[in-house]
Amino acid sequence: MTDQDVLQRAKEMAAGDDFPLMGFSHLEWWVGNAFQTAQFLRSQLGFSIVGYRGPETGTRETASYMLRQGDITFIVTGAMGPEHPVSDHVLQHGPGVKDVAIAVPDAEAAFELAIERGAEAAAKPHVIEDDQGRAVMSAIQAYGDTIHSFVQLDGDMPGFERREDTIAVPTGLEFIDHVVANVELGKMNYWVEWYERVFGFTLLKHFDDDAISTKYTALMSKVMWDGEGIIKLPINEPAEGLKKSQIDEYLQFYRGAGVQHIAMHTQDLLMTVSDTHTRGLQTLAVPDSYYADVWQRMPDIDVDRAKVEELQLLLDQDEGGYLLQIFSRMLQDRPTVFFEFIERRGATGFGKGNFKALFEAIEREQDKRGNL
Ligand code: FE2
Repeated sequence: MTDQDVLQRAKEMAAGDDFPLMGFSHLEWWVGNAFQTAQFLRSQLGFSIVGYRGPETGTRETASYMLRQGDITFIVTGAMGPEHPVSDHVLQHGPGVKDVAIAVPDAEAAFELAIERGAEAAAKPHVIEDDQGRAVMSAIQAYGDTIHSFVQLDGDMPGFERREDTIAVPTGLEFIDHVVANVELGKMNYWVEWYERVFGFTLLKHFDDDAISTKYTALMSKVMWDGEGIIKLPINEPAEGLKKSQIDEYLQFYRGAGVQHIAMHTQDLLMTVSDTHTRGLQTLAVPDSYYADVWQRMPDIDVDRAKVEELQLLLDQDEGGYLLQIFSRMLQDRPTVFFEFIERRGATGFGKGNFKALFEAIEREQDKRGNL
């Protein structure tokens, strides 16, 4: 394949309506201790450890575990020494998501097209191959130090020694529903425009300040998506309030923009949450007044109310139906990254009706940390 062929394919893609994306490939976390992060994801969330790459398999400078549940793949990577970029990243940001990787039909053409549309290169197209599979990979810079890899995969992800996990018990998580970014004050519209220009994404929802403000703080949020719902990337920006918002707190402790939360879909949120609670996963509680309001707002929904209240699940509805969701507490020492579990019963929104309750719950935690 000559350079001209690649450019030609990129031009053909550019001529089409949008950038061909097949969904999230995987999320790669850069952490201080990949071994322990993998154990956490396995024991508390039920991910299986399906692959390993490290000194024993010929990779001298890092250790990575590949974890899977349903269609969700996480890679967690730690460094063997202080001179490696992973160590520097962890020193700056704490544990976090380095790569929101996207599956594409052609990683070389995707890269060329993104660059042509003004994206900054993070990794030129290259091939990784083993007896499990072959991947053409490339990457571009996104917000903060985060990147988007393009992954063109044939077979299973190469480069990992396969592991059979006989310990992990899944908790019902099926796929990544959305991945949320926190960006600096004044930068949201830059990234909205960037996703429109580079990927051909469009704006799905718009919340103004008033829609998600409490007595003390506010944020603005816009959702970028591919138009089909395969990739949904909400972007948050802090807004002026009486006190420091949770987004400001994130930006301060993550030292810049980055992934705030990862929402994973489950077919049965009650089951997933009661299961993960027994494993020690902690989730955010809502104020007592929340349910009186919810049952009044949504009198007809078919859920076990007592169980919903016991587990402190959040509910919301829109034109399409309703949804149940819950947020984990912080996953690391710094108040940065957390998980959401979501069960959609027709609703396509993101829990707008819960933003205020969620916000107040987060602020209570933020206040305990002395950061409000
Ligand atoms: Fe979310």
